[in-house]
Amino acid sequence: MKHQIIIDTDPGQDDAVAILLALASPEIELLGICAVAGNVPLHLTEVNARKVCELAGKHETKVYAGAIRPIFRSLITAEHVHGKTGLDGPVLPEPKMPLQKQYAPDFIIDTLMSRPAGTVTLCCLGPLTNIALALVKEPRIAPRIKRIIAMGGGWSEGGNITPVAEFNIYVDPHAARLVFDCGAPITLLPLDVTHQALTTRSRIEKFRVMKNQTGPAVAAMLDFFERFDVEKYGSDGGPLHDPCVIAWLLQPDLFTGKDVNVAVECDSELTMGQTVIDWWRVSGRETNAHVVRGINSDGFFEMLSERLLSLS
Ligand code: RIB
Ligand code: CA
Repeated sequence: MKHQIIIDTDPGQDDAVAILLALASPEIELLGICAVAGNVPLHLTEVNARKVCELAGKHETKVYAGAIRPIFRSLITAEHVHGKTGLDGPVLPEPKMPLQKQYAPDFIIDTLMSRPAGTVTLCCLGPLTNIALALVKEPRIAPRIKRIIAMGGGWSEGGNITPVAEFNIYVDPHAARLVFDCGAPITLLPLDVTHQALTTRSRIEKFRVMKNQTGPAVAAMLDFFERFDVEKYGSDGGPLHDPCVIAWLLQPDLFTGKDVNVAVECDSELTMGQTVIDWWRVSGRETNAHVVRGINSDGFFEMLSERLLSLS
């Protein structure tokens, strides 16, 4: 049985690699891609999602546009990391494939309500606004979600947009709180694990020498994407955050984690968007997520390179 998934995303170079990994994986039936405002505004994230599908030669993929801004807070973007287009690096042609007319949260609701309960997985790579809007509009979807697998948050790694908050959660902390409280099974991949998935020079070179168009384009994306983290952390490459979500779906044994409680700060400006991960279970709060903190990064990159080779 294939994994039937919806990808919710704010491309972003790392989102793009996650989308490519999903498109390259025969175990996955990609029901649709929902764009959300995040790394760059929505009018760019929806175009970038379509550019990535066309790069992979998957022109029939259904791409939907969703929230143009967070639920309460004003939109914060991350051009400083992803460039002004959100997909700086390679020059990709303007997409020819159509954007679907349906609003992304409505697509999420219709898909979950029409398919058998417990069969659809939501893979979330950006701020959780679309998911939260769908949950508020149609609460009956919550028990029908097979699993939410999300990149976001941080524990011992702290934050990447503020000292304590990770970008996806910080942009829309209220949406994140709604999702963590919805009762669906959740797997969270925070900075603690994604900061171990570094795009070292040798790993990028493996993409660059691929004999298809996808490999070199991915190398150009990562050449651009890694500069921010290399400068900030002095690391050997940038953290490939979002592909960890798809990799966990495909090969969870590449990762280690624990079921704990995750809460989101939505009141204090100082710690807004902090994920309070109760790793040692001292709060007495109910477990609501499987938090991933370990990764076999060589195995992850091996799988990623192998899969991307199969694309156009
Ligand atoms: O903090 C990293 C996350 O924020 C990734 O999903 C990246 O694409 C940005 O959206
Ligand atoms: Ca993202």
